[in-house]
Amino acid sequence: MAEIIDGKKISQQIKDELKEKTAALRAEGKIGALAVIQVGADPASSVYVRNKKNACAYIGIESLAYELPEETTEEELLKLIAELNQKHEVKGILVQLPLPKHICEDKVIQAISPTKDVDGFHPQSVGAMTIGEPGFLSCTPAGIIQLLKRSGVEIAGKHCVVIGRSNIVGKPMALLMLRENATVTVTHSKTQNLPEICRQADILIVAMGKPQFIGAEYIKEGAVVIDVGIHRDQNNKLCGDVKFEEIEPIASAITPVPGGVGPMTIAMLMNNCVQSIEEG
Ligand code: GUN
Repeated sequence: MAEIIDGKKISQQIKDELKEKTAALRAEGKIGALAVIQVGADPASSVYVRNKKNACAYIGIESLAYELPEETTEEELLKLIAELNQKHEVKGILVQLPLPKHICEDKVIQAISPTKDVDGFHPQSVGAMTIGEPGFLSCTPAGIIQLLKRSGVEIAGKHCVVIGRSNIVGKPMALLMLRENATVTVTHSKTQNLPEICRQADILIVAMGKPQFIGAEYIKEGAVVIDVGIHRDQNNKLCGDVKFEEIEPIASAITPVPGGVGPMTIAMLMNNCVQSIEEG
């Protein structure tokens, strides 16, 4: 029977710590707002954006919502970002992804000032993370490190296998695990013998984006399994990339979906906002 790593509880602890820190910063006169930009009305994005605004309200940070129509041009969006970069009271700028097809995401990410890049997606943030310099860490991977540490999972010296190589999760995840002194293997859709490689993992981090793909044949007895996937199954129930019921008896610890990695992303976004306010 695996320990269920409770992301809801751990994210709540982090948000409560941040709430206290925000109050202390306010007492020193240090305040600031998070600008949240959504282009179009993708329903999943709207849920994420609402959760981010609610988290700001909970910890005591002002949020400024920019809900722009689907037809917004790249030029208009870049202009708004340039204005927000100049506003002293805005300490964080978040552009919800994905953007409509006619807008280049890379261009938009690179337009955000690295001092306000609370998503940690700007090349300067990624570069700083890679060489261990201070900067904003990508929220989902940083959240997974917190889940592991706060659940008492030892990382140093362990073999961590990451499935997925996206810029948002897989690549920064591998770098952060390396920073924690894990031995890291990164796998992806072209990897051969994936089950065999995964069976070598002490810590398996699954961010492949395929509903309930990873079964028992991928898991070593006693491994820690982190499921980054979030999908709806045939019955419209939330599920991850992992076959939870099948793996739970084999793993030593596992994250559920929902209530595992998901809530941690927002907690770490709030952490980055507080860091930005602290730095002034
Ligand atoms: N879309 C899916 N995940 C994220 C995220 O972490 N940040 C932003 N800005 N957009 C996303």
